[in-house]
Amino acid sequence: MSPHHQSSRPPHALDPLCAGIGLRPPHYQALLGKPAAVGFLEIHSENFFGAGGPPRRYLDKFREDYAISAHGVGLSLGSADRLNPAHLENLKKLIDWLQPSLVSDHLCWVGVNGRYLNDLLPIPYTEESLKHVASHIRQTQDYLSRQMLVENVSSYLEFADSTIPEWDFLREVAQQTGCGILLDVNNIYVNSINHGFDAMQYLDAMQGADIGEIHLAGFQDTGEILIDTHGAAVSDAVWALYASAINRFGAIPTLIEWDTDIPTLDVLLAEAEKANVMLEQASFAMPTREGRRHAT
Ligand SMILES: [Fe+2]
Repeated sequence: MSPHHQSSRPPHALDPLCAGIGLRPPHYQALLGKPAAVGFLEIHSENFFGAGGPPRRYLDKFREDYAISAHGVGLSLGSADRLNPAHLENLKKLIDWLQPSLVSDHLCWVGVNGRYLNDLLPIPYTEESLKHVASHIRQTQDYLSRQMLVENVSSYLEFADSTIPEWDFLREVAQQTGCGILLDVNNIYVNSINHGFDAMQYLDAMQGADIGEIHLAGFQDTGEILIDTHGAAVSDAVWALYASAINRFGAIPTLIEWDTDIPTLDVLLAEAEKANVMLEQASFAMPTREGRRHAT
């Protein structure tokens, strides 16, 4: 099928017991050769906005064999700007064609006054910003005619104006909009060290039924702060927090994020296998996830 044509094919079912990996060009050839090795592939949606060309041709092949999670970085849900209509249109065209199992972006802003920065920036956690970001999420879900997941970001500063703990803010975003949560366990850990809170308190605030995907990644410790680099193996502390999360909430589709200093596919698959073992154990403790709203 031409990548220009829409697909009526239903998305692959996500297997919550089999972790996924990010789809990155150095692994294209190896992944095309062994399609059963990972639970799902996560793409950066913006890299595939062009309706033709090599990226879409490859993705057309991958979507035949893998469930896909479409993860965006450009909606800027927390920006004071209105949502960018061209960005929304490009995203809708991509997901109408791709039929991904999950669609997500971040609880952050990436630009203001029409100027874009190359970073996922935190927002102040106030009643006013909650109303604002919830409105953007509702607009996005209405436009896409589907539920999206919203991910917690890492941060290196906090706003003096914030009046709501990050974990309560994230839960409220989901409760008020019906969006799901992409819970980045590494980002929780990084923020807990950078800002001095108990990471378990974050998990305590979550409703398991809201969580549609989990991210695991590596960070860099500068000695003063932890930086979410996505350039290293998952740390022992983050694996431990992940175990707490899935033992509490049940098996949830989990992604190994590794975007810089990208290792060989075997290294990534070994990380995914570690998650698989833990997901299997968690599924014995909690075999079903009652009340999930967003399984596709
Ligand atoms: Fe993430």
